[in-house]
Amino acid sequence: METLKSPMQNKLQLLEDKKAEAQLGGGQKRIDAQHKKGKLTARERVHLLMDENSFEEIGMMVTHRSNDFGLEKEQYLGDGVVTGYGTINGRLVYVFSQDFTVFGGSLSETHAEKICKIMDLAMQNGAPVIGLNDSGGARIQEGVVSLGGYADIFYRNVRSSGVIPQLSAIMGPCAGGAVYSPAMTDFILMVENTSYMFVTGPNVVKTVTHEEVTSEELGGAMTHATKSGVTHFACANEVEAITNIKTLLSFMPQNCEEDAPSIPYESGDEIRTELNKIIPENSNQPYDIREVIENVIDSDSFCEVHKHFAENIVVSFARLAGKSIGIVANQPAVLAGVLDIHSSTKAARFVRFCDCFNIPLLVFEDVPGFLPGTDQEWNAIITNGAKLLYAFSEATVPRITVITRKAYGGAYDVMNSKHIGADMNYAWPSAEIAVMGAKGAAEIIFKGEIAAAKNKDEKWKEKEAEYQTMFANPYRAAERGFIDEVIKPEETRMKLIRAFKMLENKVDKLPKKKHGNIPL
Ligand code: HXC
Repeated sequence: METLKSPMQNKLQLLEDKKAEAQLGGGQKRIDAQHKKGKLTARERVHLLMDENSFEEIGMMVTHRSNDFGLEKEQYLGDGVVTGYGTINGRLVYVFSQDFTVFGGSLSETHAEKICKIMDLAMQNGAPVIGLNDSGGARIQEGVVSLGGYADIFYRNVRSSGVIPQLSAIMGPCAGGAVYSPAMTDFILMVENTSYMFVTGPNVVKTVTHEEVTSEELGGAMTHATKSGVTHFACANEVEAITNIKTLLSFMPQNCEEDAPSIPYESGDEIRTELNKIIPENSNQPYDIREVIENVIDSDSFCEVHKHFAENIVVSFARLAGKSIGIVANQPAVLAGVLDIHSSTKAARFVRFCDCFNIPLLVFEDVPGFLPGTDQEWNAIITNGAKLLYAFSEATVPRITVITRKAYGGAYDVMNSKHIGADMNYAWPSAEIAVMGAKGAAEIIFKGEIAAAKNKDEKWKEKEAEYQTMFANPYRAAERGFIDEVIKPEETRMKLIRAFKMLENKVDKLPKKKHGNIPL
């Protein structure tokens, strides 16, 4: 015989039923379809991301308010986005995770309101926001209301920029407005083969430009990791993307008022003799700057950002004596480490992120100059190179440079030189600090002498050697105090640990202003 339930029991049952309904999002069939594509559901992603039992959901019962196109008959609890807060490695974060099983994760008025609510809470409480994006863009049936919702999010992205870290994982086909919010966050991670980002998809492209292109070619993870630089990480799968989010967060503070967490460190023998062997005898021979970095930083702390984009510069987070630092390093193994448009913008953005969030900067410099040519000039290497110059010049965090080899021309100034506010500048004995390489310099300044010589080649070589002896070393710069110390490569780690410790309480403020005007 069925026992009668008390009013409270009935109420509790209703709550449980509603919660169970919300868990199903757009229904089991759509969940199965999501899994079939190799994708996790919005809730599975949140579960993977957050510390166990730490997630508190907000707005589970929210539904859309649209009555157009028969939408009132199609209601899903949560309206296509799971939002809330919890912890990652014990630290508070806010998260939204779009549910592709509900109207393709498209953004309605209420879906936007849910995201805005947690963005506002994150700002008020000074903690990062993580967006797990899987959305077909504006909910087409809702028209301008949905566009308004996007703009509400964009506005908050910008207001939050530089105050709290914002991270975006792209875990499905993100189209239209769905790409612009991630674009304004600090880091984007995409998943290979299942995530896309484009303003307009292949069909629209075909209609407008007659180009035939697949989703993958147009806006897949590797496209954006290598060609556009829109994404900072291309991850093999969703689990890797989520792991990367956790790693990234471990290098960041909760907000701009705090320092990044450090891990306990016991000092020991900091001499690294391997560093003495890295620079090749011939100064035009490449080497991998990552070898230098790996030998300087704490072991297993290298977290490279933008790995596949503008590979002639390496940017990464790392730890030195347990403390979080940001590294910018010319990469002699790619295009001789030259500065060009992409490497300048890549590094500038990273420098600005670190400066926003009190992460000290370490620069390794081996740069033959800016890349010449019409392609670079016509695409504004002047404006883009200036971005890096601007970013370093305005950074107030502790800044240290180590010149391993070449520091030529304008690139010497740009790469965190003393003149633009670096705190400590070291050079290895292999450093060459000059306006240009000896060969080119001899050709210009000894033009007459070379032309008048009987054996022109010999004269050229003689003059090249003369210039080389005079400037292809760190000592002229050290005499001026532009280099604080010429150090043995093996001492680099030790010197950096001491110098960053010395700079720990650095106070530097920009002049009062509304905001600067970086050359965009
Ligand atoms: C409402 C949408 C939707 C949308 C998808 N769906 N996108 N519903 N609004 N924007 C629904 C589908 O009707 C379908 O519902 C379910 O989500 C899954 O979509 P499918 O097309 O079956 O999935 P798939 O083949 O994987 O393709 C995914 C997709 C495609 C690439 C995202 O759906 C698509 O191209 N959608 C439209 C993208 C777009 O043009 N968005 C508007 C951009 S304009 P059922 O019921 O079958 O499950 C914009 C303006 C903002 O965003 C600008 C701000 C700056």
